[in-house]
Amino acid sequence: MDRPKKAGIFRLLICGDVNADPGREVARRYVSLFRKTMDVDFIILNVDNAADGFGVTPAIAEECFGYGADLLTGGNHLFHHKEIIPFISTNERLLRPLNIEPAGNIESAGNGFCEIVTAGGVRLLAVHLLGRTNMSLAGSDPFDCIDRLLDGYSLGKNIDVIAVDFHAEQAAEKNAFANYLDGRVSVIVGTHTHIPTADGRVLPGGTAYQTDIGMCGDYDSVIGMEKKSCIAYFVTKASASSIKSASGTATFSGVLVDVDLETGHALSLEPIILDGVLQQQGA
Ligand SMILES: [Fe+2]
Ligand SMILES: [Fe+2]
Repeated sequence: MDRPKKAGIFRLLICGDVNADPGREVARRYVSLFRKTMDVDFIILNVDNAADGFGVTPAIAEECFGYGADLLTGGNHLFHHKEIIPFISTNERLLRPLNIEPAGNIESAGNGFCEIVTAGGVRLLAVHLLGRTNMSLAGSDPFDCIDRLLDGYSLGKNIDVIAVDFHAEQAAEKNAFANYLDGRVSVIVGTHTHIPTADGRVLPGGTAYQTDIGMCGDYDSVIGMEKKSCIAYFVTKASASSIKSASGTATFSGVLVDVDLETGHALSLEPIILDGVLQQQGA
């Protein structure tokens, strides 16, 4: 599991949606291990489903920071537990989607981006946005929103690394968004579907990209939820409230991204899938 790293490289670990107790268990195990063994500079964890499949509580957010995560992102379920509102309002390292409008809504508490200077002096901008196709939370135009934000930033000049979590359902929307940003950000990962895609790569302009980085959760399930209750939802139109999270052994799913600090562009993206049914069947 060792990954030697050359000087001038900034290494990010970005972990897919942490789903319920099994996801937190596998995230706890691997985030701290990767921090020690893989020379990772910055760790981002998506916590949209960390609290039993829906949102995150202040205690669980603190727990996730305790694993060694530097930054947490959310998604459409972020405000499921209302007690997260005062927490996100005062903690700039838990991001809500940037393109939530109008301002003043519950869902616009907190911030959608964060500029951090790391212990090594690297200037990093993290951004979180929501897609607009088939999402349970409505966002404004993510293309326009990120254009306005990036207007003040230029890779290799006034910012060293830009990392984007685009939380969206539709592959085409994610694919279009990544190509729209190619060369302007270091890495953009898709989250939300919980199914890792096999298209991880560096785009021609230098942006690392994967349509969806999967989930940290039990894959012997329907996207992390217990199979029987999910099938009933589709077959008999049973209430969504009857869906429970799955409780079996989790898979860790995420990506490791190396960024050249000279240019701010990515050199590589490596998917990491460990444990649980995905690992067993792929090994
Ligand atoms: Fe999710
Ligand atoms: Fe989501």
